Amino acid sequence: MKTALILNGPNLNLLGTREPAVYGSQTLVDVEKLCAQACTTHGFALDFRQSNHEGQLVDWLHEAGRLHATGKLVGVILNAGAYTHTSIALFDAIKGTGISLIELHISNVFAREAFRHHSYISPAAKAVMCGLGVSGYALAIAGLATMQTGVSA
Ligand code: DQA
Repeated sequence: MKTALILNGPNLNLLGTREPAVYGSQTLVDVEKLCAQACTTHGFALDFRQSNHEGQLVDWLHEAGRLHATGKLVGVILNAGAYTHTSIALFDAIKGTGISLIELHISNVFAREAFRHHSYISPAAKAVMCGLGVSGYALAIAGLATMQTGVSA
């Protein structure tokens, strides 16, 4: 069984209480449960993580690259939070690994402040999803299945 790795960046541990009008009321634990269900549907093992630290996210992307090299990774879904808009290190890590990665945002970043309109992740991502709330995570897992087979379940 291949693994779907879901990485969450800074402040996503605050989901549920953080700006609920923007991010909704579901917690990161709720999101993990949602992802577990979607992974069961698609026959993937789930590896779900969150860190507030850029270097930790870089290390996890390198780990994903090693798993990818063994053929055991279906892909990565990355919500890099604010590092999306600042991190050349994350861009380089994705480019350096050869992994299939979907960039995900809970909110529609293009309908928000101008500083959220630029992403360092997008040019290195296979796909980008934003504005669908936390249900975007389940849709992105379906997206990994589609990218793998060309057919959605
Ligand atoms: C976010 C959007 C980012 O601009 C923001 O910094 C976040 C969350 C989202 O999921 O909508 O932390 O990635």
